[in-house]
Amino acid sequence: MPESRDVAVLVGSLRRASWTRRVAVALGRVAPPSLKLEIIEIGDLPLYNQDLETDSPPAPWTRLRERIRAADAVLFATPEYNRSVPAVLKNAIDVGSRPLVKSAWRGKSAAVVSVSPGALAAFGANHHLRQSLVALDMPTLQQPEAYLGSVANLVDEEGNIINETTRQFLTKFMSTFAQWIEVQRCRP
Ligand code: FNR
Repeated sequence: MPESRDVAVLVGSLRRASWTRRVAVALGRVAPPSLKLEIIEIGDLPLYNQDLETDSPPAPWTRLRERIRAADAVLFATPEYNRSVPAVLKNAIDVGSRPLVKSAWRGKSAAVVSVSPGALAAFGANHHLRQSLVALDMPTLQQPEAYLGSVANLVDEEGNIINETTRQFLTKFMSTFAQWIEVQRCRP
């Protein structure tokens, strides 16, 4: 039985009835017992402004940075806004990345799930996000890729998975992510 791993989950939607958040809840339910998922709230982060990068930056910035530094891995669940990542998620990424020498993201294992009520499954957001993860030096799970389109057919309002194929896929996705986290921990 592997040790417990702390997975910080960032959800790129603030709305109460967010499909993406429901999927994040669902992922916690199908994850192997070794993974402890916690959704990290990002809605209170002031917009990134380098002028605020003083000896006493905004408290929500410090909270996010410390929480991510403490995590073993990061799971990003994102919807797509205009073929890219919603600003709230990009803001969290930017906040966590500074000061650059102390970037909270560096070296953290990551995985990406994109979610849309539409058919294209937020492919654009998924890959824009991956572009940032390269710059952040986050070793990111490549396969299986997770694009959840027509999501209203896949999860219900409580984050229950209502499609058996999706359940099997997300279970496999999370177990592969757990293995990925262990492999990355063994890297020199
Ligand atoms: C969207 N939506 C959207 N959907 C999509 O598949 N591709 C896109 O590029 C966009 N663009 C977009 C821009 C903006 C500003 C909004 C508000 C919405 C629709 C989007 O997928 C839908 O609102 C989802 O329900 C958002 O995710 P949550 O909030 O349900 O998690």
